Amino acid sequence: MLDRPHQTPEAPTRDERALSRALSGQHFIGGRFVPARSGKTFAVHNPATGEKVAEAAEGDAADVDAAVTNAATAQKAWARMPSRKRGALVAQCAGLIRAHVEELARLIALETGKALRTESRVEANTVADILEFYGGLGSELKGESVPFAPDVLSVTVREPLGVVGAIIPWNVPMLLMALKIAPALVAGNTVVVKSAEEAPLTVLRICELMGRILPAGCFNMLSGFGPECGAPLVSHPKVRKITFTGSAEVGRIVSKTAADKLIPVTLELGGKSPMIVFADCDFAKTVAGAITSMRFTRQGQSCTAASRIYVERPIFDAFVAALAEKVDAMVMGDPLDEKTDIGTIISREQFDKVQRYIDEGLATAGATGRACSAMPADPALKKGLFICPHIFTGLGHDSRLVQEEIFGPVTCVFPFDDAEAVLQAANDSEYGLAASVWTNNLRVAMAFAHRLEAGLVQINQNLVVQANLSYGGVKSSGLGKEASLEAMLEHFMHKKTIMVNYQ
Ligand code: NAI
Ligand code: MG
Repeated sequence: MLDRPHQTPEAPTRDERALSRALSGQHFIGGRFVPARSGKTFAVHNPATGEKVAEAAEGDAADVDAAVTNAATAQKAWARMPSRKRGALVAQCAGLIRAHVEELARLIALETGKALRTESRVEANTVADILEFYGGLGSELKGESVPFAPDVLSVTVREPLGVVGAIIPWNVPMLLMALKIAPALVAGNTVVVKSAEEAPLTVLRICELMGRILPAGCFNMLSGFGPECGAPLVSHPKVRKITFTGSAEVGRIVSKTAADKLIPVTLELGGKSPMIVFADCDFAKTVAGAITSMRFTRQGQSCTAASRIYVERPIFDAFVAALAEKVDAMVMGDPLDEKTDIGTIISREQFDKVQRYIDEGLATAGATGRACSAMPADPALKKGLFICPHIFTGLGHDSRLVQEEIFGPVTCVFPFDDAEAVLQAANDSEYGLAASVWTNNLRVAMAFAHRLEAGLVQINQNLVVQANLSYGGVKSSGLGKEASLEAMLEHFMHKKTIMVNYQ
């Protein structure tokens, strides 16, 4: 284990390496840092260099039980606190996060390889925004009055569910965590988060920061592996709700355990999101939009990445050329360097997985894969998990590259002639998370918006998830919504009916 556990700085720091060492080896349970009961830890690496930056506590069922017990005890008093006061505390946490944006951005860049300027800082700011948004909704936990009989007052009130277990991934860990903890807490639940094994540090720091404001036990954090630490959290009898973001494969496992316990579950799973480009679009805006849509700055590690791009034939060649030229001009390099546009892939496992898809695409007869952007020249980065963004054309629609979620910087571009056929192709996917349509014809855009099988359709833009916009997929992309007021009311509370007979 690395030395100096839990002597984290009080004030925001710019020394992300010292901070990651200080966060080493700890869970956060009941308002304080504690090591794993087993004493075990696992290494956390900087994917840009391969260096070990920390050791994380390796949680198991005993740690889960300690965290859930603390959360269950804290929940009673937390739920009795007036909801506006809970909201005010969560909003106060937002302020503390804002004061630490630079620190959190540097730390997440270190542990995930996401570029500071284009990704990490944006994510840290969005966390504060989400906490602020939900913090203001404490007085919106309203029920209804129900007409029943003249002398009977029948009303519904909303109540929290109890202890919420949240399992998060590594791609945008702090933002995806905020979407879960903010509504859960404001609604009067307490939370135990299981962080992703690849990115346990920044979310732990956030938990510690929020622990300065929230009562002990309201927000607990465990690090560890899926089967050993995630699974016991889902199956723990005192956990009354599970919210999960990650792969469809694990989502199904989580969902089965939740079904056995008869508890509600929210799932945010994968995607294979189509981007449909008509010849009458604003060409320059749409090419730039494809860069954002594909989340190239995040190495394509996004569930909403526009990994299938359909372009109307008259502009197909020009579009592919312009896109490749623009991606070529992006700078891939040290995630902590302000000049860098594109950072690294998260882990060796993901790197190998993405590389296998690229190799398969390159070996496919009739397909062309164009590698864009240069590998970083800096010798310090030679062990870094950098992959050149690839733009594929000429693939069949049944190719694995077109049907499976790659979660890397790989997009497949197709020409189309017929609107009806392209709509069918766009919907020919097991996933249904997001889609975008680029055209100046509002009639066509709206027809597509209604007929695309997706939880989120954007016309002439493709923004990432935002506070106040309902977010969540259909088909294998998930179950339930996040990010909105309704998400808090429907997924983190239940309705109780109260009837008063005053005859
Ligand atoms: P994963 O689904 O295995 O991991 C997500 C989280 O679930 C992690 O915290 C992990 O520890 C936990 N987990 C794993 N097994 C579990 C179990 N049996 N019970 C409870 N929790 C468990 O995702 P992974 O392996 O990191 O990535 C694999 C693929 O999943 C990616 O290539 C990508 O296609 C997809 N993915 C999608 C994400 C999204 O935002 N929807 C995020 C991350 C991955
Ligand atoms: Mg996995």
